Amino acid sequence: MSTVLALPNESTSLFDTQKPSSKYSRLKLLRPAFHTSRGALFHTDCLRLFASIRSNSMDCIFADPPFNLGKDYGNGSVPDSLARGEYLRWCFSWLDESVRVLKPGGSIFVYILPQWGYHFAAHLEAKGMMFRHWIALTMKGTFPRGNKLYPAHYAILYFSKGTPKCFNKIRLAIPTCRHCGKDIKDYGGHRKYLNPLGLNLTDFWEDTAPARHQKFKARWHINELKPLIPSRCIEISTNGGDVVLDPFGGGGSTFEAAERLNRYWIGSEIGTCLPIRERFERQFACSRTPLPTHLQSMFFCADAKLRLKSEPNAQNY
Ligand SMILES: C[S@@+](CC[C@H](N)C(=O)[O-])C[C@H]1O[C@@H](n2cnc3c(N)ncnc32)[C@H](O)[C@@H]1O
Repeated sequence: MSTVLALPNESTSLFDTQKPSSKYSRLKLLRPAFHTSRGALFHTDCLRLFASIRSNSMDCIFADPPFNLGKDYGNGSVPDSLARGEYLRWCFSWLDESVRVLKPGGSIFVYILPQWGYHFAAHLEAKGMMFRHWIALTMKGTFPRGNKLYPAHYAILYFSKGTPKCFNKIRLAIPTCRHCGKDIKDYGGHRKYLNPLGLNLTDFWEDTAPARHQKFKARWHINELKPLIPSRCIEISTNGGDVVLDPFGGGGSTFEAAERLNRYWIGSEIGTCLPIRERFERQFACSRTPLPTHLQSMFFCADAKLRLKSEPNAQNY
């Protein structure tokens, strides 16, 4: 296996305030590939970005990592087919960094396949994180795999760093038939007791199927999520002005969601960042916005232009 992991030397404990590794101390300025007045995206390995972020500084992390399915992410540089142990070791390294940079009461959401999710959940719990939910999201259009069950859901792991500092309830419109307009479900005679604002969001999401068609995606070669998915996670766990981190930018759905919800955001993407910039230009017409200077204090060492000190030549993954 040719992949080289760029891991911090030591794993960090839950409320560790130390910078985790001296490995990242060699200096090279890393400037944002793109920014708005609320967020900054760095074209880099997520472990390099993490190494620049102060402990206990993020309110929410949304991570949708490569699933190690041998997928081509379009940049020719990310080998998405590690040996099982190697993949888990890499994932544990960014999960550990996520735990370190989250504020007490902050939350992490990881969008993942169940086959990896149970390992991640056990690891997060071992790191002292509090289990909140295993959210199941329906997976459409897959096919049976040999002597296994038909895979029908993705998972979002939702953990908080201690008691969550906020939990905003989300309500969904009461589902109706698109032909006759009547309720789809019979509420057993209790319809009049339903909250007129809608139904409570449950841990089973059926309205979040991936944006499969190329024309609906910013980066056609990656599994871009509907912004609804990160949007819900951000809404549940943060308030206006909080800071959201997504280490795996992809097509930028988390950044779009954070921008719309008036949260600050920070992200990394190892492949091209151009589609994310174009997405923002399309959606927000934001080509000339001031830098989000508010974010400067989140980094160990960033100048007024949010240029970070970074290690040269770090490896992918
Ligand atoms: C599944 S996609 C994320 C999709 C994203 N959530 C969206 O909805 O647009 C995973 C992304 O992680 C990126 N990636 C893989 N390894 C990375 C690393 N070490 N650091 C930063 N980004 C990485 C890939 O290039 C890919 O774009």
